[in-house]
Amino acid sequence: MGRTAAVTPATFTSFGALLRYLRLRLDMNQRDLAIAVGYSESQISRLEQNQRLPDPDTLLARFVPALELDEEPELVARLMELAHAARSRPARPPEPAAPPPEPAPAAPVFAPLPAPPNALFGREQEIAAVAGLLRRRDVRLVTLTGPGGIGKTRLALAVAAELRDEYAGRVAFVPLAAVSEPGLVPGALAQALGVEVGAGQSPEAALQQWLRDLRLLLVLDNFEQVAGAAPLISALLASAP
Ligand SMILES: Nc1ncnc2c1ncn2[C@@H]1O[C@H](COP(=O)(O)OP(=O)(O)OP(=O)(O)O)[C@@H](O)[C@H]1O
Ligand SMILES: [Mg+2]
Repeated sequence: MGRTAAVTPATFTSFGALLRYLRLRLDMNQRDLAIAVGYSESQISRLEQNQRLPDPDTLLARFVPALELDEEPELVARLMELAHAARSRPARPPEPAAPPPEPAPAAPVFAPLPAPPNALFGREQEIAAVAGLLRRRDVRLVTLTGPGGIGKTRLALAVAAELRDEYAGRVAFVPLAAVSEPGLVPGALAQALGVEVGAGQSPEAALQQWLRDLRLLLVLDNFEQVAGAAPLISALLASAP
């Protein structure tokens, strides 16, 4: 038997290379794949460059169908194997001789979402609808309104839990109930998110700098009472990717 030039799962030695191959096989660009899985284009790019750790649950739930792998268990197995390998040994830059990279800013650690007091009742459709909105590339802010006690906070928490993996755990819940003045919102946000505010720096500037390279899901609870801080939120959105 002659040698075959066929690509096998073992051909790929990094998660990023396999992901790129699977994407190109379907004639998708990074943006197409990003939309299909609810990631940003730059996240796909970083995954393909082995600069971002793949999340196994999201791979199975979103990437496998988007990459049309349902009938190809060997490729799925290899993809998961490489993903686990990447997670246990974060990727190094390809050339050891390259100048050392800038020290990465400390990865933010987000507090767990507040635990709800009872089991969630219903709301499946609302959770799916809000999560669906947030997955859209053109939607960066979703406001939940309704009478007191209707379940806005609870819904927001359920959506945040649903999307946590897609945001690589970068989901933050900031209760603003105790903040009475719009002018205090930047400081409260910086404090809640653990953003260091340098000497002579405004909390707003510190937040903008911190958010610049970060994709996160921020839940601002009870924002209505500090609605005057809306321009701050617009400015933060404008300065974040
Ligand atoms: N779908 C649900 N299943 C179970 N409990 C719920 C559900 N929705 C809301 N609750 C409970 O009802 C109470 C009120 O809900 P929640 O705090 O989310 O309302 P809210 O709209 O945020 O109120 P407020 O306007 O006062 O902030 C909470 O104890 C919450 O856990
Ligand atoms: Mg509430």
